[in-house]
Amino acid sequence: MVTQINNITYRSDVKPNLDEAINLYSHCSLGERRPLSDRARFQAMLDNANIISAWDRDKLVGIARYLTDFVYTTYLADLAVDDTYQNQGIGKQLIKELQKATTVGCRIVLLAAPKAVGYYPHIGFEAHSSAWTILEPLK
Ligand SMILES: CC(C)(COP(=O)(O)OP(=O)(O)OC[C@H]1O[C@@H](n2cnc3c(N)ncnc32)[C@H](O)[C@@H]1OP(=O)(O)O)[C@@H](O)C(=O)NCCC(=O)NCCS
Repeated sequence: MVTQINNITYRSDVKPNLDEAINLYSHCSLGERRPLSDRARFQAMLDNANIISAWDRDKLVGIARYLTDFVYTTYLADLAVDDTYQNQGIGKQLIKELQKATTVGCRIVLLAAPKAVGYYPHIGFEAHSSAWTILEPLK
């Protein structure tokens, strides 16, 4: 799907390449929290996720990287907008495009980065008091 809004093109029909993605993440605070220097791992993160990207002509300016079954639940792994393009509605539009790609009633779940904890409630997300994660193998 391709959507054009205010000179920004939103695309689910192509994925950014590794260097385009590294450049975007390096130009917003999410880059500190993702394994950009491990190219194989970061490439796998792109290859094995659904991606909606936002472009200013041929420049990648935003990304929604997500995992979904399309009908019941979507995990929004990364939402990132280039620092110089923030606060223009691109992050919100990326989520709207993601919702267009899934069915009504498909719930989005995410973990907010510290600098974005105020963002999600501002645009309408509700906090969940019983979300749980684990990183280490179970003992
Ligand atoms: C968080 C982020 C994705 C928001 O995208 P964006 O395109 O800049 O935001 P939008 O233009 O969609 O903002 C929509 C609204 O949220 C507000 N907003 C933006 N960033 C915010 C923040 N960090 N905290 C609270 N509100 C925020 C905007 O002011 C705007 O408000 P309005 O509709 O009342 O005018 C973007 O700032 C970003 O990439 N930040 C760095 C990486 C990051 O932390 N990503 C989140 C990972 S979970």
